[in-house]
Amino acid sequence: MSRRAASTSRRFADGGSIPFMGSLHPKSRPSPLVSVVLLVGALLVVGYLYSSSGGSNAGKEALMKLQAGVSCSSEVLKAIPILKKAYGDSMHKVLHVGPETCSVVSELSKEEDTEAWGIEPYDLDDADRNCKSLVHKGVVRVADIKFPLPYNRNSFSLVIVSDALDYLSPKYLNKTLPELARVSADGLVIFSGYPGQRRAKVAELSKFGRPAKLRTTSWWVRYFVQTSLQENDSVIKKFEQASAKRSYTPGCQIFHLKSHK
Ligand SMILES: *[C@@H]1O[C@H](CO)[C@@H](O)[C@H](O)[C@H]1NC(C)=O
Ligand SMILES: *[C@@H]1O[C@H](CO)[C@@H](O)[C@H](O)[C@H]1NC(C)=O
Repeated sequence: MSRRAASTSRRFADGGSIPFMGSLHPKSRPSPLVSVVLLVGALLVVGYLYSSSGGSNAGKEALMKLQAGVSCSSEVLKAIPILKKAYGDSMHKVLHVGPETCSVVSELSKEEDTEAWGIEPYDLDDADRNCKSLVHKGVVRVADIKFPLPYNRNSFSLVIVSDALDYLSPKYLNKTLPELARVSADGLVIFSGYPGQRRAKVAELSKFGRPAKLRTTSWWVRYFVQTSLQENDSVIKKFEQASAKRSYTPGCQIFHLKSHK
């Protein structure tokens, strides 16, 4: 992400410097008025570069969102207080599955009475120090979720999965979803992108294996019925009430499934 951000500012700087260099050519000395105009222009360019390279956090965040597409793992971060209201005690032992799991696990662990583990389904090549330490401690594992998970039945009270399912074909969903339900005792929460949301670019496809397939809500509901996964109505109601109270509107589809008993 930072690589792409860097090349954007470089492109801008190159483009911005071309008229500048030409005007300062020794044979065509600029008049004082032209100099003032150029100075103002230069300040604007500097101001723009400053704001797009970290000067303003909101601008930077918007830029990163634009480049990366919306991530449902960051949506999990926003939804933690609502999940806590809806699930209560069932948040005591949580497994998060999905990209950026180190950030999700770190945030979940800050909650009182919540222990959290993570499965990162893709490479962790840009892991920071905190993430490396979580992997070292075995709190976060890198594992291909197309294969059985290395946990016993009912190991966690709640399993939360974000983004990762969007990269699986129905054939693998048929294996992975029952696995996620198997290791959870009280429920399984799915965060999935809405069709039309921008997702990983071609450059990232080698990491994810295939392009994201963003499915509609009716597709998911039909799929749950087909595969005998049931939504948990009481928790859906609590989640909706807590969302309304805090004016929270999810940027991703959120499904609350029962665990297999
Ligand atoms: C997935 O499982 C359902 C229910 O068992 C079945 O109807 C469907 O054909 C399976 N899909 C694939 C692609 O295997
Ligand atoms: C619905 O979710 C709640 C909260 O996790 C859980 O306690 C309850 O057992 C679930 N209901 C069913 C029928 O699985």
